[in-house]
Amino acid sequence: MKIAITGATGQLGSIVVEQLKNRVSADHIVALARNTEKASALGVEVREFDYSKPEILTGALQGIDRLLLISGSELGRRAVQHINVINAAKEAGVTWIVYTSLLHLETSSLNLAGEHLATEKALKESGIDYTLLRNGWYSENYTASIPGAMGGGAFLGSAGDGKIASAPRADYAEAAAIVITDEDNKGKTFELAGDTYYTLSDLAGIISEQSGKTIPYNNIPEDEYANILKNIGLPDGLALGLASWDVSASKDDLFDDSHELSKILGRPTTPIVESVKMALDLASV
Ligand SMILES: NC(=O)c1ccc[n+]([C@@H]2O[C@H](COP(=O)([O-])OP(=O)(O)OC[C@H]3O[C@@H](n4cnc5c(N)ncnc54)[C@H](OP(=O)(O)O)[C@@H]3O)[C@@H](O)[C@H]2O)c1
Repeated sequence: MKIAITGATGQLGSIVVEQLKNRVSADHIVALARNTEKASALGVEVREFDYSKPEILTGALQGIDRLLLISGSELGRRAVQHINVINAAKEAGVTWIVYTSLLHLETSSLNLAGEHLATEKALKESGIDYTLLRNGWYSENYTASIPGAMGGGAFLGSAGDGKIASAPRADYAEAAAIVITDEDNKGKTFELAGDTYYTLSDLAGIISEQSGKTIPYNNIPEDEYANILKNIGLPDGLALGLASWDVSASKDDLFDDSHELSKILGRPTTPIVESVKMALDLASV
């Protein structure tokens, strides 16, 4: 039995590979990567795999039984890329695809939903057994802003009082490794999020408490937030994306109380206080 992981060189994928190595022998694991040199440190078989090169995908999937398709990072190109992968998986005889989708996909206002909807549709039409890991927000999406907030004296955002039930990448990665190693998970859809929620005001309070410096939360309009992000050097698309995702957060699109992630893990999800502590330690602020 061979399990392949796309995006294996990414932040989520590399933790999935580590987690899988704790569960199955390394010779059952194949890392699929567009940069094979970057993947060589993973300690498993590596095959070249670029979602935008359909001509190499079927060959790379030969002998693969289970495929973890980690959604790509090139926004706007992903639906076509993911469909390339699903078509190749069908041709190569892959029997089960586990896909990292988006929390509450059918109702989400996040502008990321369209590409995930197209991918889920293609999976349904492929005839291959599939499982959906509808991942909520990574805690790191917000803790990455801690150094900027400490420097600027305030945590900025447009999420209002939206409830955010995030979990760190490591929790989602561990869940992916658990799910793909148990065939009973075929055909299931999991809505995955942190056990507890916080608002960005709560988050600013946690940062203040842990750092000893008062960091208020300043809620600002979407266009103002996007402009600030552009002015600090973020690419336009990312700045607009981050601001719009906060507006979706204000509508509770990042909230979930199903506890499906902790049920898979068999332990509580990692609380935001721990992620903040880790981020403060890393930033040494
Ligand atoms: N839930 C959330 O909060 C959240 C946040 C951000 C992203 N995401 C989604 O979750 C995915 C995994 O997250 P992450 O943090 O691991 O992201 P990441 O570190 O950016 O990793 C993305 C992975 O996808 C690979 N990739 C991108 N385009 C590809 C292509 N054309 N062909 C083959 N591989 C390609 C990248 O390869 P390289 O290593 O060569 O770049 C990398 O391995 C992201 O790609 C995105 O779809 C979710």
